[in-house]
Amino acid sequence: MKVTVVGAGAVGASCAEYIAIKNFASEVVLVDIKENFAEGKAMDLMQTASLNGFDTKIVGSTNDYSKTQGSDIAVITSGIPRKPGMTREELIGINAGIVKTVSENLIKQSPNVILIIVSNPMDTMTYLVHQTTNLPKNRIIGMGGALDSARFKYRLAEAMDCPSSDVDGMVIGGHSDKGMLPLTRLASRNSVRVSEFITDERLMEVLESTKVGGATLTGMLGTSAWYAPGAAVSSLVQSIACDQKKMYPCSVLVEGEYGLSDLCIGVPVILGKNGIEKIVELDLNDDEKAKLKESAEGVKKTNSLLDS
Ligand code: 2OP
Repeated sequence: MKVTVVGAGAVGASCAEYIAIKNFASEVVLVDIKENFAEGKAMDLMQTASLNGFDTKIVGSTNDYSKTQGSDIAVITSGIPRKPGMTREELIGINAGIVKTVSENLIKQSPNVILIIVSNPMDTMTYLVHQTTNLPKNRIIGMGGALDSARFKYRLAEAMDCPSSDVDGMVIGGHSDKGMLPLTRLASRNSVRVSEFITDERLMEVLESTKVGGATLTGMLGTSAWYAPGAAVSSLVQSIACDQKKMYPCSVLVEGEYGLSDLCIGVPVILGKNGIEKIVELDLNDDEKAKLKESAEGVKKTNSLLDS
């Protein structure tokens, strides 16, 4: 199993590190445009192999896509990250051109590749890849919901004063501060609804802090976060590589599911060896349906900027 990660910045490198540590891939190729940067990150990571006990070979490449040839899965993290106070949508101008070129380069070397898009504004970048490549929809996956759901579980665990492993919860909708839809009604602690443990008011605080999870960290770190994004990507990669058929909310092209079409937005999917094996349709209530529709309108508004 060969995995390419384009962009050796904090998110890309952390993604490569988690993939290696989980030890399921034979090779990870890190690509970056900055001379020797990916090679340096790859060497540094390889020097952790004996310490962390993994056998994955990590190779760096300065924009030489021939090294990515025959990749089964490729992750696109390239582009500029958010600075404090910026929205993900503000990155569209620069990142659209980069994501288009990178996806074309990847597909040239690996026609059967499954692409995972991380660059922001992620839902729009995923849609752009649909529009500009001829890959089938099951092989174009946007990573946002898995990260937002991990942040939701962190906030729920904090509120209930329990370990995250006790908590189950999911965030669907657009990967944006306004568009995210943490499914508070369905969140549980070992099958018991979270409302048994915390007040409605506290649950609303959890919801709001989840939605600004990325922005909060950007404010604290001066750039966007990397550990949780890297871990979230590595989980998606593993589910595909090992045909685990796990369910994660991912940004995918919807064609009538949830009453939505002609956009990529976060909905629960089953991830296996073919990429998206299935879109799972949840029985949402009217309020959740309305919020998802509103979120979709926001994503479509950002998508419309692709034409300008
Ligand atoms: C985040 O939310 C990178 O968009 C990503 O941190």
